Amino acid sequence: MFSRKEFFKKVALPAGLLLGGTILNANSIHLEESMPDFSPFTGTPEEIAQDEAFWFQVQQSFTVDRSLINLNNGGVSPCPNIVLEAMKRYLDYSNKAPVYTMWQILEPERETVRKRLAAMFACDTEEIAITRNASEGLQILELGFDLKAGDEILCCTQDYPRMITTFQQREKRENLKLVQFKVPVPAEDPAEIVRLYEKNITANTKLILVSHVINLTGQIMPVRDIVRMARKRDIPVIVDGAHSFAQFKFNLADLECDYYATSLHKWLLSPIGTGMLFVRKNKIANIWPMTPAPSTMADNIRKFEEIGTHPAANTLAISESIIFHNGIGAERKEARLRYLRDRFYKRLMKLPNVQTNTSLKKEFSCAIGNIGIKGIEPGALAAYFFSKHKIIVTPIGHEECTGLRVTPNIYTTLDEIDMFCDAFEKVSKNGLV
Ligand SMILES: Cc1ncc(COP(=O)(O)O)c(C=O)c1O
Repeated sequence: MFSRKEFFKKVALPAGLLLGGTILNANSIHLEESMPDFSPFTGTPEEIAQDEAFWFQVQQSFTVDRSLINLNNGGVSPCPNIVLEAMKRYLDYSNKAPVYTMWQILEPERETVRKRLAAMFACDTEEIAITRNASEGLQILELGFDLKAGDEILCCTQDYPRMITTFQQREKRENLKLVQFKVPVPAEDPAEIVRLYEKNITANTKLILVSHVINLTGQIMPVRDIVRMARKRDIPVIVDGAHSFAQFKFNLADLECDYYATSLHKWLLSPIGTGMLFVRKNKIANIWPMTPAPSTMADNIRKFEEIGTHPAANTLAISESIIFHNGIGAERKEARLRYLRDRFYKRLMKLPNVQTNTSLKKEFSCAIGNIGIKGIEPGALAAYFFSKHKIIVTPIGHEECTGLRVTPNIYTTLDEIDMFCDAFEKVSKNGLV
């Protein structure tokens, strides 16, 4: 481990210089100088997950408001300062003469981002489109398949509301049928889940949507098994990976899917307004882009990026977030996220009146925990935590998994988790007083 002096030289140098009154050109700060050095730390991911010296560095890499205890990182996450600074540099440079500096110089650099994302997902670079969020990637897929009246689309009742709404619009416009079914909460039997999908397939089923992680509970779904089952029946499966990418370690080989879309502003900690779409190479030509592209691009993954004028800064700063992610290490991050989630979940689940909706088994969840107090409506509970304690959590009113969705992130401190637990325990004992 390096000394406090070395730490401040590395992590706090830029801020220190600015506070000292020196006017710095942002471009003169080398990224390496403001990036924490994780190299002295050794041990298994589970050991590192409990090494507060390691995570102190990570916590200090963010400029979040510590007077708020933000335990809703599932919605959208703040990015580390190094990512934010990169985005600002690109934004400044774009604005010099956008038609030249943004379109001619920066825009072509997105190809490097594509390569880095493809390396992370372990697919071909020509299979990755950079989008503005998971919704965009998923809607490209949901709207991009040719279907005809009477065709059925299958998903579960816990898929993301916008992704369901998107299919409902197709239902109305094209006379299709959306079939939804329930999955158990929590779901700890992958074979049973696959059977449920299988049971709801009919001769008319032409498309399946499955969430890799269910946003309501953090449930990890057996995507590969569902894809294998559907492939035997020639039914394409769209994988909603909004919550999985960079939350825990996996890649394409673990999913075996042909279609996957994710946000990057959740767990990869990229700038807000970034996402990724994967379409297997031989499937690209069959999907209509949501924003039409020239026919010469029919089998080019970039046809999904024909969205008109857009900022280059957000996209290019994705690289910084990938470097940050790899610097920490995917396994260490996964282990820490689970450690933070377990810290509140294992303490609170012992209370007599709690409602638990998340499996703690490693293969079924990671960073997210859904937990509630019986008899207290989650909206009222979340509002109470915010007004009384400035703690942000997400109320889940879904009838199958009522509770609070609590999602710490790698910048969350242990005492922030403990403050949440103290507040929760008081309500569990005394009610909303
Ligand atoms: C499962 C799931 N799918 C899709 C989305 C949409 O993501 P975005 O808002 O980044 O488009 C979310 C957002 O929370 C989600 O949880």
